[in-house]
Amino acid sequence: MTHCSLALEVSFAERVLRGSVRLRVQRLDRNAPLLLDTRDLEIQGVQCGGAAVHFELGPRDRILGSPLSIDLPSETQEVEIHYSTKPEASGLQWLNPEQTAGKRHPFLFSQNQSIHARSWIPLQDSPGVRITYDARITAPPNLCVLMAARERDASNRFRMDLPIPPYLIAIAIGDLDFAPLGPRTGIYAEPPVLATAAGEFADTERLVEAVERLYGPYRWGRYDLLVLPPAFPFGGMENPCLTFATPTVIAGDKSLVSLVSHELAHSWSGNLVTNATWRDFWLNEGFTTYLENRIQEEVYGKEQALMEQVLDRREIEKDLREFAPADQILHIDLAGRDPDEGCTRVPYIKGALLLRQIEQAVGRPAFDRFLRSYFDHFAFESITTTTALDYLRRELDHSVPLEEWIFEPGLPQRAPRAVSARLEIAAAAAKNFATGNLAAKDLPAKEWNTQEWLEFLRVLPRPLASVKLAELDGAWHLTEIGNYEILDEWLLMAIETEYQPAFARLERFLIDIGRTKLLKPLYTALMKRDQGKRFAREIYTKARPGYHAITRTALDKILLL
Ligand code: BES
Ligand code: ZN
Repeated sequence: MTHCSLALEVSFAERVLRGSVRLRVQRLDRNAPLLLDTRDLEIQGVQCGGAAVHFELGPRDRILGSPLSIDLPSETQEVEIHYSTKPEASGLQWLNPEQTAGKRHPFLFSQNQSIHARSWIPLQDSPGVRITYDARITAPPNLCVLMAARERDASNRFRMDLPIPPYLIAIAIGDLDFAPLGPRTGIYAEPPVLATAAGEFADTERLVEAVERLYGPYRWGRYDLLVLPPAFPFGGMENPCLTFATPTVIAGDKSLVSLVSHELAHSWSGNLVTNATWRDFWLNEGFTTYLENRIQEEVYGKEQALMEQVLDRREIEKDLREFAPADQILHIDLAGRDPDEGCTRVPYIKGALLLRQIEQAVGRPAFDRFLRSYFDHFAFESITTTTALDYLRRELDHSVPLEEWIFEPGLPQRAPRAVSARLEIAAAAAKNFATGNLAAKDLPAKEWNTQEWLEFLRVLPRPLASVKLAELDGAWHLTEIGNYEILDEWLLMAIETEYQPAFARLERFLIDIGRTKLLKPLYTALMKRDQGKRFAREIYTKARPGYHAITRTALDKILLL
């Protein structure tokens, strides 16, 4: 498959997309049928050169969906499939007006990674495949249609002329406005959030300039952000030219902008050089997490970068204490599993630590030169761990135990450990507050950002006594805080202590927010307590219809449904 041409009509009333896709294919074997991935699609017909051809939809696999087998005439290079999606398509989320900031218009967005493209487009849904695409979307005229594409016109035609893996095709439709941030950067958001979002992400152009200095030219033209409603199931998604982002990173002080640095970094690691299979996912996320931190250092300074590293390291160590050994391996075996299950902190943080150790071994200038050549060498290719490793061995000489890092569980002995002066102050404050030597009102927290608050809260003994929570709340109003990362940690502590004054906010949080990473710890903690279990089930019944299919799958496991 080399090109995909979409013509789709959007029905918000029915929650379906309906229309056709034309696929251009390269015939490697002229006698073989064309096998496409689908999940929950209604196939109305398949044509080659205007004539109907025979097709067959195979049995539905729980993870992979149903194979669509098409008998292509031997000369054919193009096939057209007429189809429609189902309301439960795992790659689409349809929001009611109540789930948006404006409360007046519905909203639709896609999320294809890892293998959800097949739930709204029949295609070869593998990251090892690269295609260009164009699309013509028919939608209600009062709504704005966006796609991850290089070109867009006034009649909702889109064109992506650079070859991308299908998991990067993306669409969003809603009541959206635009504000420019720089010459090639800008932001889309619902009108009520646009100004705040534009302020928070005002440094975006500088971030692009910083990566370009480090790793070479940005090759995708524009870099825009789309801030989605809070039901968006992830922090961010690196859809090319148009990063999708949760509004929960709008902290007010830019302290969660690392999300933009991360998604932007994917324009090199991930979108330019892509993991060929999902077991090579660490090539996308480990490289990106490393790049993200380098960008943060360039734009916000060493200390900010170190704070982020210290927090990451504590999280990965916690996970490694709990994960089965097989799930601690960068080159993870996903046979028989849903590739979304490979999306843990291991490929991200362990992957980044590996790269940081190589950086320290060969020196930063040599490692930067290596990364730049890696991106140039494999630009617009999908590669496996083996290919990346061969290249690394050929280009760089060092004694980092690559095999151990990539094929064995745990963290190697000499994994780099960051230290942050600012976080040490926050940690010391936590200890003094816990022992009663420091009153909540006397904490040096006036200027603390997200990282310092998280460090403080995470170092406190757990469960923290109810009076201590009340004292903190009285002095710093944490139950009412607008920073969702801090609030998440705070609500977790409230659950552990059964601190009732925070439960109304907890309920609102669980209903409004769909970001899986923030929800999981809260439901998990609730389910560990008898009282909490009842509360969790009650809220979940209300909240579940508003969650994304991916979030529901993750939470159903916790709620034991
Ligand atoms: N590409 C990922 C999101 C993803 C991974 C979606 C796997 C589906 C399957 C994105 O770049 C990402 O890593 N997002 C993070 C934020 C980041 C700052 C760590 C997230 O959503 O938490
Ligand atoms: Zn990522």
